Amino acid sequence: MVKINEHYTEIGNNYLFAEVARRVREYKENYPDKKVISLGIGDITQPIVPAVIEAVHKATEEMSKAETVRGYAPDFGYDFLVNAILRHDFQERGIHLEPDEIFVSDGAKSDTGNIGDILSPDNYIAITDPAYPVYVDTNKMSGREIELLPCTPDNNFVPSFPKKTADVIYLCYPNNPTGTVLTKDQLKKWVDYAIENQSLILFDAAYEAFISEDDIPHSIYEIPGAKKVAIEFRSFSKTAGFTGMRAGYTVVPKELIAKTSKGESISLNALWKRRQSTKFNGTAYIIQRGAEAVYTPEGQKQIKKVIDYYMENARIIKESLDSMQLKTYGGINAPYIWVKTPDGMSSWEFFDFLLDKAQIVGTPGSGFGESGEGFFRFTAFGNRENTLEAVERIKTLLGE
Ligand code: MLT
Repeated sequence: MVKINEHYTEIGNNYLFAEVARRVREYKENYPDKKVISLGIGDITQPIVPAVIEAVHKATEEMSKAETVRGYAPDFGYDFLVNAILRHDFQERGIHLEPDEIFVSDGAKSDTGNIGDILSPDNYIAITDPAYPVYVDTNKMSGREIELLPCTPDNNFVPSFPKKTADVIYLCYPNNPTGTVLTKDQLKKWVDYAIENQSLILFDAAYEAFISEDDIPHSIYEIPGAKKVAIEFRSFSKTAGFTGMRAGYTVVPKELIAKTSKGESISLNALWKRRQSTKFNGTAYIIQRGAEAVYTPEGQKQIKKVIDYYMENARIIKESLDSMQLKTYGGINAPYIWVKTPDGMSSWEFFDFLLDKAQIVGTPGSGFGESGEGFFRFTAFGNRENTLEAVERIKTLLGE
């Protein structure tokens, strides 16, 4: 008889955002006349910028002609995109990486989840708490031991080192869900920790395009020594509206060396190459041309406008909640506002309360981990009209 991966029985039936979607669907079925506003999952509402759309159209045309049609994409990305990434995301920040250290993919969710394929189930894992649920769920699926590193107002959302030396550390900055950041000095402490303890940092930088303040690293490779200890994940989803198009990339520097159980040194870059070429068939050509267009001067100007639009939403949400005497965090360098729930409500109680009384959807903090209990996350990815209406409804509900 077939045997399952028993670890799947330990992680609950529903992925966080699937559970939120299920409850919202149920509510809408019961109250079809009510207008529900979603500030829940961080999904885009603004159109994809013209530079990207033009590139996608052009690439689609190429697919219609025998001379220019493309079949399988290279497993790790077309040179045109890899070179644009290297130039714009790294060289301009003084970081030198080689083309074969970049792995273009269908997004950071897959890569942050799949990276565990090349790591032993015996690794001791440290994950900041609250966190993007993929990190905890996928490590539980593999049966790994996890230590959560609380990030709360008590420590200014700066995690302390784990109690037991961690083999692998997940850091996401700007942070999802709290919207908080680490300065260069704060991140350097983690890089130094990893160098000293031969740990691997999995650095999720999906939200770097939203950084507005100086001294906040956009890439972990801005920190000396990081290439020896860190893998970085990037995404076009939030940067350029690719949530439905699917593109991201992962950086696995060749300096990153791990040990086999026999003590032999092995390159993580080589292992990830082996993994991707076996299990992944490349990101669609059309989509990669769209991603390339993000890096053109026009593309850059256009995506900046959209990011500014979302960050204006963030300002509106944050200031409105602040004016209601709610305690908010984030929302300055990230499109998420993390708020303490009022009147000691649990995260899910507040979720139900907002949905029932004001038809507003957010994400319950406890869904991101135990340190998220008593908090709630709003996203800035709504459209302006809905965002303004949502804060008005909350004001009416909670009073100024
Ligand atoms: C979120 O809302 O946390 C993100 O949109 C989820 C994701 O990027 O997969």
